[in-house]
Amino acid sequence: MSSSTASSSAIESVLVENRVFPPSAATVKAARVSGMAQYQAMCEAFDKDFEGTWARLARENLVWSKPFTKTLSQGSKPFYKWFEDGELNASANCLDKHVGTPIENKTAIIFEADDGAVTKVSYKELLAKVSQFANALKAQGIKKGDRVLIYMPMTIEGVVAMQACARIGATHSVVFGGFSAKSLQERIIDAGAVAVITANYQMRGGRELPLKAIVDEALGMGGCDSIKTVLVYQRTATACNMVAGRDKTFTEALAGQSTVCKPEQVGAEHPLFILYTSGSTGKPKGVQHATGGYLLWARLTMDWTFDLQPNDIFWCTADIGWITGHTYVAYGPLAAGGTQIVFEGVPTYPNAGRFWQMIEKHKATIFYTAPTAIRSLIKAAEADEKVHPARSNLSSLRILGSVGEPINPEAWMWYHKHVGGERCPIVDTFWQTETGGHVITPLPGATPLVPGSCTLPLPGISAAIVDEMGNDIPNGTGGILVIKKPWPSMIRTIWGDPERFKKSYFPEELKGYYLAGDGAVRSADRGYFRITGRIDDVLNVSGHRLGTMEIESALVSKTDLVAEAAVVGRPDDLTGEAICAFVVLKRSRPTGEEAKQIANELRNWVAKEIGPIAKPKDIRFGDNLPKTRSGKIMRRLLRSLAKGEAITQDITTLENPAVLDQLAQTN
Ligand code: WTA
Repeated sequence: MSSSTASSSAIESVLVENRVFPPSAATVKAARVSGMAQYQAMCEAFDKDFEGTWARLARENLVWSKPFTKTLSQGSKPFYKWFEDGELNASANCLDKHVGTPIENKTAIIFEADDGAVTKVSYKELLAKVSQFANALKAQGIKKGDRVLIYMPMTIEGVVAMQACARIGATHSVVFGGFSAKSLQERIIDAGAVAVITANYQMRGGRELPLKAIVDEALGMGGCDSIKTVLVYQRTATACNMVAGRDKTFTEALAGQSTVCKPEQVGAEHPLFILYTSGSTGKPKGVQHATGGYLLWARLTMDWTFDLQPNDIFWCTADIGWITGHTYVAYGPLAAGGTQIVFEGVPTYPNAGRFWQMIEKHKATIFYTAPTAIRSLIKAAEADEKVHPARSNLSSLRILGSVGEPINPEAWMWYHKHVGGERCPIVDTFWQTETGGHVITPLPGATPLVPGSCTLPLPGISAAIVDEMGNDIPNGTGGILVIKKPWPSMIRTIWGDPERFKKSYFPEELKGYYLAGDGAVRSADRGYFRITGRIDDVLNVSGHRLGTMEIESALVSKTDLVAEAAVVGRPDDLTGEAICAFVVLKRSRPTGEEAKQIANELRNWVAKEIGPIAKPKDIRFGDNLPKTRSGKIMRRLLRSLAKGEAITQDITTLENPAVLDQLAQTN
C-alpha cells in the first residue's frame, strides 16, 4: 500500500488541533441522542447483545410484510446476510408508511430548479407519482430483479425513478450526469441493464446540457443490446432525438397508468441498487446494497446523526448520482418522514451566495454539504462581500454536516462561524459508498466536536485502527481503518465479481475485518478518529472518488499519441486533491506552446473517456518515467514532483535520473 496522499499541511494542522466545541446544554436536552451517556449506553447495548439490538432496531424502524426470524447469517463469510428471511419494500417504507397518517400532507420534497422555480410535493402526491411511474415501468415489461440504469438530473423525477424501481423490485443503478458516454456504456454492460431512465437535457448554471444525446452515444457504442427501453423526461422544451420502438417520453409512458401500485415485497437481501465507484485497480466496481439493511441504516442515521425532528427542513446538496444522494436524498429523509430540499443547480449560479440564499428562502434547519463546496464558497465570499453568508438570514439552521473528504480545520471554523453562527454543531460524517451510511461521525446533541475530526463510531459500528496484520494499535499512532464486525448497511458484493469483493474488502491478513481503504489515527486523549486519506490508489478530487489506474488507462487508450502514463494525486487547497499525470508520448517530448496544446488535448480525451471530473489538472511530459532498474515506476518520487518538493528520496537506483528535471515542469 502506498502512503497517504492527503494534504500534508491539512494533516499537520489537524494534529495540533486542540479546540473543543461541546454541544450547548439546550442542544443536548432537545436531541434524540442526548449527551454522551446516552451514546455510551447505545454502544453498550450492542456490546451486550449485538444481534438482539440490531433486530430490535430493525423491527422498530422498518415495516416488514414478513417479519424476519434470523438477524445475521454468517454462513458464507464475508458474504454476510441480514434479516435474511424477512420481506419488505423500500418504497413502501418511504411512502406508504406515511400516507394515511397525519403526515400524508406534509411536504416531502421542496424542489428548487436551476432558475429558482420552486415545486413542492407532499407525501401523498409523491406516493401517487412513484406508483404511476412504477406502473409505467411494469408496462414496459420491467420486472423484479431487472437492472435499470438511471441517468437523470437532480429533479423530483430522479427521486421518483429510483423509488419506482424499488417499488417493483427492480435494481437501479444511478450514473452521475457528469459521466461520459463511454462510462455509461461500461456500466450498462456490466449491470446488464434492461432500460435507461434519462432526461432530454439538464440545467446547470443557466446552461442546458444534453443527457439523452449521451445515452444515444453510449448505446451506439455497442454491447448494450440488453437495453429494450429508454424513458425520457422532458426537462426542457428543446427536442431530442427519439428512437422509435425504444424511446418513450415520460408523458407517453405515464399516459393511462394508474396512480395506485401495490409494492412488490422482496427479501431483505434483494439488491436495492448497484452504484459504481472507483477502486484501486481496473474498472469501476458495482457496489451492491441490500434492501433491508441499507434502508434501516438510512433511516437510523437520519435520526442519530442529523437528529431529524418533525419540523426540520433538511437539505443535502449531493447529487443522486453519488451514494450521499442515495442515502440522504432518495431514501433516508423519506424513510424518516422528513421534509427535504432537492436542488437542481450549482452553488455558484446565479452567484456564489446561492446556498445561503436558499437556506434563508426555505428556512433550512439542517444543511449537509462537502468541504470542497465550503472551500470554494469561502474563496468567493472573501472576494465578494455580496455573496458572503452574512448577507443571508441563516438563523433557521440548527445542524451542519460535512461529507466526502477530510474537512480542514480552517474550513471547519469558517463553516462554524459564518454559516452556523457559532451555535450549530457540525457533523463531520465519515463513510463510503460501501458502508451505505455514516459510520464514524459526531452526534449533534452528544459529541464534543474537534475541528477536522469525524470523532467516534456510531453505535453498532466496530471501527478500529490496526496494523498490516490486523493487530490493534495504540491511540496516537496512524494505521489502517477497519470495521471489525459486519453491520446491516454494508456492501454485499461487487456486482458480478464476488472474488474482487473478497480481495478488496476482506484481505486475509486482516483477520476478516472490513478494510475501508483509508488511513486513520485516533487522538491520544479522546480516542477521536481522524481520517488521513486513502491508502490505496484512489484519489478524492472535490469529494469525488477516482482511481489513478482508471485515469492511466484512459490516457494510454489514446494509442496514437500516448506511450505510457502514471497518475498521482497532489494536495490542492480547493479540491482537496488534484490529479497530476506524467505522460510519455510516442513522439518526441513537446515543450512550450505545443506541450500546452497536447496537454489540453489529453484533458479533453480523459473527459470523453471518463467524465470532466477526471480531467488531470496538471499534465507533464518526459522522455520516460522514473523507474527502478527492475522497471517499476517510482510513484513516491512522482508524488514529490507533483507537489513541487525537492527530491530527498534516494535516486541512485533510478535508471534515468535526467527525466526528473523534465517532469518537474508544469504545462
Ligand atoms: C473519503 C462518500 C474524511 C474517504 C460518502 C472515503 C472522508 C471516501 C469523509 C469515500 C470524511 C468520506 N472525512 N474523508 N468525513 N467522508 N471521505 O465512496 O477517503 O464517494 O474512503 O463516499 O471519501 O468516498 P465515497
